[in-house]
Amino acid sequence: MEKTEKKGTVKFFNGKQIPLEMHKVRIVQSLKLVPVERRLEAIREAGFNSFLLGTKDIFLDMLTDSGTNAMSDEQLSKMMVADDAYAGSQSFVRFEKSINEVFGKKLILPVHQGRAAENIISQTFVKKGSVIPMNYHFTTTLAHIQLNGGTVVELYTPEAMVVKSSHPFKGNIDIVRLEELIKSKGVENVPFIRMEASTNLIGGQPFSMKNFEDVRKIADKYKVIIVLDASLIGENAYFIKKREKEYEDKSIGFILKKMCELSDIVYFSGRKVSSSRGGAICTNNKDLYNKMKDLVPLYEGFLTYGGISIREIEAMAVGLYETLDEDVVGQSPSFINYAVNELDKLGIPVVMPGGALGCHIDAGQFLSHVPQSEYPAGALVAAFFIISGVRGMERGTLSSIRDENGNDILADIELLRLAFPRRVFTLSQTEYLIDRLNWLYYNRNLVGGLRFIEEPPVLRFFTGRLEPVSNWPEKLLKKFRADFGDSL
Ligand code: F0G
Repeated sequence: MEKTEKKGTVKFFNGKQIPLEMHKVRIVQSLKLVPVERRLEAIREAGFNSFLLGTKDIFLDMLTDSGTNAMSDEQLSKMMVADDAYAGSQSFVRFEKSINEVFGKKLILPVHQGRAAENIISQTFVKKGSVIPMNYHFTTTLAHIQLNGGTVVELYTPEAMVVKSSHPFKGNIDIVRLEELIKSKGVENVPFIRMEASTNLIGGQPFSMKNFEDVRKIADKYKVIIVLDASLIGENAYFIKKREKEYEDKSIGFILKKMCELSDIVYFSGRKVSSSRGGAICTNNKDLYNKMKDLVPLYEGFLTYGGISIREIEAMAVGLYETLDEDVVGQSPSFINYAVNELDKLGIPVVMPGGALGCHIDAGQFLSHVPQSEYPAGALVAAFFIISGVRGMERGTLSSIRDENGNDILADIELLRLAFPRRVFTLSQTEYLIDRLNWLYYNRNLVGGLRFIEEPPVLRFFTGRLEPVSNWPEKLLKKFRADFGDSL
């Protein structure tokens, strides 16, 4: 039994629960806050799609934690000693070593980012008629599975959709339904079970180790493999330590290894888990490795660089070791927890308990007067950008797809996601975010819906363009000026 030294969450004399940064800032990037009039112009130019905004108009970029986590001095320094080579790079040897030590997997296929891993896994294992059970989908995962003729079945538990909950593991999969699905579809049609750590689209919610062990039992009983999306595994391990009694004295390293041990294939976006760029697929099963291996040189690059710069391979290796540090993997969740609790005190509907990656506002409740067909989460992202300069991301019906009749498949939950990349934002910036959300909540009736004017057929949320259904943005701006005077 491995024991770890208890990390101190420092008690404040004034009794406040404030997240304390366990790092100091040594490289900074300056920010600008452009006036509200320019922000309205900018979101209009961007087709009311926050993906199409330019950073020159953005104050706090909370679109994502993907490729935007702060890097450490160790990571940056190792990038300088990268061993550039097309084949046989020693940087890759160091990367293999880190995966072996952190995740316990020996066979590694490097890829340029998470969705490239999904492409290779889907092309290898998914066929027409395949059914892939999972705790919840991620946008790119779903797209790759469908592209190969498969369907996704989400087996989340009822707690997953309860916005204000105290359930510690809303990312759990429903074990009973998992077994029923395998029996009813036939094991030959289920190429793998996918579990996503810190389930992104339902608010960064973790699954428990107990749940994962139960998935393993089903997988063993029916001889199905488990694929773990480990893009947010560090935070999931942190939540297991904080919320699952049996693991409170275990190290993050112990928990990470155990999660990977329960999986046949582990893949990840290095843009998230290792605060770098890149990604990889790893396994200890030679047959599985051989099935996927030839697709790496075809789509990515040679087996020792996978389409990423060798410097990023070095940064991934160091970043993976850093996920062993509770202060690193706990930083974003502790800021999210702070923001979520403050927003809840103000009566703002926010996904609780706080999860990984970001703070998730329930746009369905926030803008209950905007019908789902007018994309309330997309409208809230646009409105919040106009009044704050903070860029969030829509995670709702806009990020969904249409059915065969061309109707929107309405999302289970409409979310405005405000990502907290690791070690990037400060507490006063978090306070600004809370203050502006509070103002917008008071003025929520001024916000209306959106409609598409250009809609791409695949992953439409990335590049689609929309317009407001009325002149609500101008009314919102007018109220902002009336309340804030000449403040930005
Ligand atoms: N899986 C999960 C759980 C993710 O969150 C992401 C990316 C991917 C796979 C794909 O990885 O971007 O490196 O190709 N999530 C980002 C986000 C884009 O903003 O949530 P990628």
